[in-house]
Amino acid sequence: MNQDQLKQAVARAAVEYIKPKLERNSIVGVGTGSTANYFIDYLAEIKGFFDGAVASSEASAERLRQQGIPVYDLNAVDDICVYVDGADEANPQLHLIKGGGAALTREKIVASVADEFVCIADGSKWVETLGAFPLPVEVIPMSRSHVARELVKLGGDPVYRKGVVTDNGNEILDVHNLHIADALSVELAINQIVGVVTNGLFAHRPADVLLLGTESGVETHR
Ligand code: A5P
Repeated sequence: MNQDQLKQAVARAAVEYIKPKLERNSIVGVGTGSTANYFIDYLAEIKGFFDGAVASSEASAERLRQQGIPVYDLNAVDDICVYVDGADEANPQLHLIKGGGAALTREKIVASVADEFVCIADGSKWVETLGAFPLPVEVIPMSRSHVARELVKLGGDPVYRKGVVTDNGNEILDVHNLHIADALSVELAINQIVGVVTNGLFAHRPADVLLLGTESGVETHR
């Protein structure tokens, strides 16, 4: 199977985690990226089984609407039963690096609200230690150089992602050469830098379930 087929396999498997609408609303949190896009397409096949979605980006909201799935503002819903999203890296603790698509802040917000976070990824995303993928950091534009200097003090090599403006009107620094042995500490340390909106480490809110697409099938990690 190629990488796209592995992404499709995990996206389809994630549909099993959606709770049907019973006495309370069933709102699905939907992530961003190519794997999440496949999930949206499978979600469209079971419209009516759930009430609607909250999206982690304008791009995903648009794709959901095109598929006829109602999209809600997060402030308009009481809870999210499950959040399904991809990742750039995942380790055995189900700590993640996310934000390759620049949607990390909204992704972290929706994930933190959800009762359950199901991460869907092809096997190339599985690592023992996070950090080979450059860690995305969303910054307030006027603070970009200041944040970059502070990230160098933490041992990283930040690179400005030129031409990218997030859905929140901010900018992205991609931090190279971080060997992240303690993801909890690194996530906190970077978020303490004034001007940082958030960073793409999901350690304080890891995935609850990782569906990993491999040649031998979809592995479930908890
Ligand atoms: C979006 O900002 C990211 O967090 C994505 O979830 C991540 O980059 C995975 O993307 P793919 O599913 O396209 O690999």
